[in-house]
Amino acid sequence: MADIEKKPVKIVETVLRDAHQSLLATRMTTEQMLPIVGKMDQVGYYAVECWGGATFDSCLRFLKEDPWMRLRKLRDGFKNTKLQMLFRGQNILGYNHYADDVVEYFVQKSISNGIDIIRIFDCLNDMRNLQTAVTACNKEKGHAQVALSYTLGDSYTLDYWKDIAKRIEDMGADSICIKDMAGLLTPYNADELVRALKESTKLPIDLHTHYTSGVASMTYLKAVEAGCDIIDTAMSPLALGTSQPATEVMVETFRGTPYDTGYDQNLLAEIAAHFQPIRDEALKSGRLNPKVLGVDIKTLQYQVPGGMLSNLVSQLKEAGQEDKYLQVLEEVPRVRADFGEPPLVTPSSQIVGTQAVLNVISGERYKMVTKETKKILMGEFGQTVKPFNPEVQKKIIGDEKPITCRPADLIAPQLPQFEKECAQWKQQDEDVLSYALFPSVAKEFFEYRAAQQTGVDSTLADKQNKTYPV
Ligand code: CO
Repeated sequence: MADIEKKPVKIVETVLRDAHQSLLATRMTTEQMLPIVGKMDQVGYYAVECWGGATFDSCLRFLKEDPWMRLRKLRDGFKNTKLQMLFRGQNILGYNHYADDVVEYFVQKSISNGIDIIRIFDCLNDMRNLQTAVTACNKEKGHAQVALSYTLGDSYTLDYWKDIAKRIEDMGADSICIKDMAGLLTPYNADELVRALKESTKLPIDLHTHYTSGVASMTYLKAVEAGCDIIDTAMSPLALGTSQPATEVMVETFRGTPYDTGYDQNLLAEIAAHFQPIRDEALKSGRLNPKVLGVDIKTLQYQVPGGMLSNLVSQLKEAGQEDKYLQVLEEVPRVRADFGEPPLVTPSSQIVGTQAVLNVISGERYKMVTKETKKILMGEFGQTVKPFNPEVQKKIIGDEKPITCRPADLIAPQLPQFEKECAQWKQQDEDVLSYALFPSVAKEFFEYRAAQQTGVDSTLADKQNKTYPV
């Protein structure tokens, strides 16, 4: 080989964020994380993804933990390793668009509490929805990684991705992530895509995929050979299935090659031993469903992310119509086409999925529609790659005029109002951001926190503990 130049592949460890979000409904507690942080810090990971995504909501809603406190504790423990978070562009960590002042303040506080790298994505790949967060991250001297939400469809050609990559570079990003939330990127397509992106941008490329369809480790191998700089993996007890390929396996795969990470496999084994009982316990309690650990080929067939499949099942269960599962799976691509062929990632995945369920169980397409369906067709989430189906749009929004500008341009600054509303519970600057994203959940958490502190109403605290099992 002519090029024996060493080019170690960089690894982002996802066990503290995506892995337990994908397998354990985001229920890992800070207490379960802290004892192993010291060892994880010695591995030499490029970064540890540990915050953002659904962890914020889950902390407040289910675990009765302050997500900001979690971040500060992790920061204290990781002395040498960069901390990474996932951020939904103008939706921040919520499900709606927020005004720029909230986005900017959230970025500022994430970085000042310990985040180094912010991975920012938009569920429609509407670049306008990323700019505020990227600019704020640049200003706070954080690393802004912009993710393209990977999906398949007529519009998603190599030229489309190359164009997006160029625009990501131009907007001031420090790196690019190919975010393949559904595990749709197959090995040879990954090779082609990485090479194409390398032609249009000089930025480092990070590939993020899920094992759902069974091809992920092979996809990483081909991508790294094609020049991909960074891959996202999870420690083996919380790897595979709807999570990422296993860290130890990828480390061993590249040993002795130019991509050798040099990581210590014994140290990784000690770290894996910490997470093994968490896996065992989750399997025992039923939190971890063995079903999500296998290969789900439906994800390739229907191009639906793993998390979305389980949501569809539970929505149908609630409606007592589980037998309609296949019909719903077939309806998903039709709804997606009506909505301008968006990628399926939070929140577009929930909107398309819920609408597909409604279309099937009501017996007439778009007889019942959600608020969010209307919003997407009003342009309130941004621009889709293709136009909406005009008939469907007309049926749902009637004569209302859809917006075409960046949605947040129509939202006045929101922080002053949020500050006013949560003043009575506020104990730290960051509380207003928790409140802004999840007002009722945050309020309940603030009340729980106050009760814990005074110890006066311990019965309430006990009751709350029972209401929100960890
Ligand atoms: Co993911």
